[in-house]
Amino acid sequence: MPVRDLRELRHDQSLIAPSILAADFACLAAQIEAVESAGADLLHIDIMDGHFVPNLSMGPPIIHALRPHSELLFDVHLMLTHPAEYIQPFIDAGADSITIHVESDSDVAATLELIHGQGVNAGISLRPGTPAAAVRPFLDTVELVLVMTVEPGFGGQSFRHDMLPKIETIRGWLDEQGSQVHLQVDGGIDSDTAPLVYQAGARNLVAGTSVFRNPDGVAAAISSLRPETSG
Ligand code: DX5
Ligand code: ZN
Repeated sequence: MPVRDLRELRHDQSLIAPSILAADFACLAAQIEAVESAGADLLHIDIMDGHFVPNLSMGPPIIHALRPHSELLFDVHLMLTHPAEYIQPFIDAGADSITIHVESDSDVAATLELIHGQGVNAGISLRPGTPAAAVRPFLDTVELVLVMTVEPGFGGQSFRHDMLPKIETIRGWLDEQGSQVHLQVDGGIDSDTAPLVYQAGARNLVAGTSVFRNPDGVAAAISSLRPETSG
């Protein structure tokens, strides 16, 4: 049976979340079917409003259109100034998990409650310039913490090595609590940087460019991102 609840995904080994931002938008359904067959664990979907980040991407109709083509958990990353206003449309479209930014203008606690109230997983994310302490009050509430390892807004950027201590700090807090919250990273993840974030304590790895634009194909790309098996 497909796992559509973050709490049921494994915590001990890496989870690979291809980001469709780097996919070929002219054949998105085929692209997500390809990563599902290649062993992706969840699908990362980036939503941008042209305000919280200086770029636009996609909205609920794309998720709705993709839903029948995949049994993967749809992990929706909202880079929006006002996420609260858009929770219901994304849930109606088929989101299984919704991550909001701690820097957004919505009431963060109330928005997480809104997501949970609909039986959907909730995540909290922070930009590179935001200290780890900003998400600490929410660790008991969410199912996922997303540490941005690039400035959000665009795929294909270089990994920020200066984010490794932040990953370690949050990993330490989660371990102290015996927490099962997923620690996710997003931005510049490839076969060189995956072992670094894994070592720092992240197990849920988002990757766009290195999966969808890999000359060796998506299956080789996904296995090369699993630090425990890639050697
Ligand atoms: C950036 C997005 C990322 C992006 C990652 O704002 O949140 O999910 O797709 O792309 P890569 O893996 O190419 O850095
Ligand atoms: Zn993302």
